[in-house]
Amino acid sequence: MLEHLTVVRHPLVQHKLTLMRDKNTSTAGFRRLLREISLLLAYEVTRELDMTTCTIETPLQPMEAPILDGKKLALISILRAGNGLLDGILELVPAARVGFIGLYRDPETLQPVQYYSKVPAELEDRMVIVVDPMLATGNSSVAAIDLLKKAGAKNLRFLCLLAAPEGVARMKEAHPDVPIVTAAVDSHLNDHGYIVPGLGDAGDRMFGTK
Ligand code: URA
Repeated sequence: MLEHLTVVRHPLVQHKLTLMRDKNTSTAGFRRLLREISLLLAYEVTRELDMTTCTIETPLQPMEAPILDGKKLALISILRAGNGLLDGILELVPAARVGFIGLYRDPETLQPVQYYSKVPAELEDRMVIVVDPMLATGNSSVAAIDLLKKAGAKNLRFLCLLAAPEGVARMKEAHPDVPIVTAAVDSHLNDHGYIVPGLGDAGDRMFGTK
């Protein structure tokens, strides 16, 4: 069973994360590293996918061989930064179903407001992996998971690159049944809700915006 929080301490993950944190890493470099690191994180977050066996014939003899079971995995990207993690995971799991949730922060209430949602059918029968590189306050991830549970999802995971202790605590309180997989848990959030030391705004670094 995945714990509530898994920090992937693999040397390749940690090395790539350091390069991504570096403010001198270019947009192209950041994007390439995010794709590479997402493959490694995907390996961890999918380790509890259901398996069955099927009969195949190797060139030498028939065998009962392991194969994924059940309905296709659903990947849900929280727009827009989630798309960077999504692209890499889709290379590893090309048959996955994909959904998108768009949320913005209401400037008055500071609460997440949904502006877009399109998710795959039959979520109740799928493993659902929500992807967003930065787990900061946890408000948007909690809202996205609320929405997915209302749509029927029962078997959820949350995948991010960096987490703040505040976001991990908020997720644990709201969704203790949803394991989090991340490459690191940083020190804290600053007054603007940025993860410190962090890597800045993941969407801006990925898309070259400011
Ligand atoms: N979102 C980001 O892109 N970066 C942070 O540090 C926090 C939230």
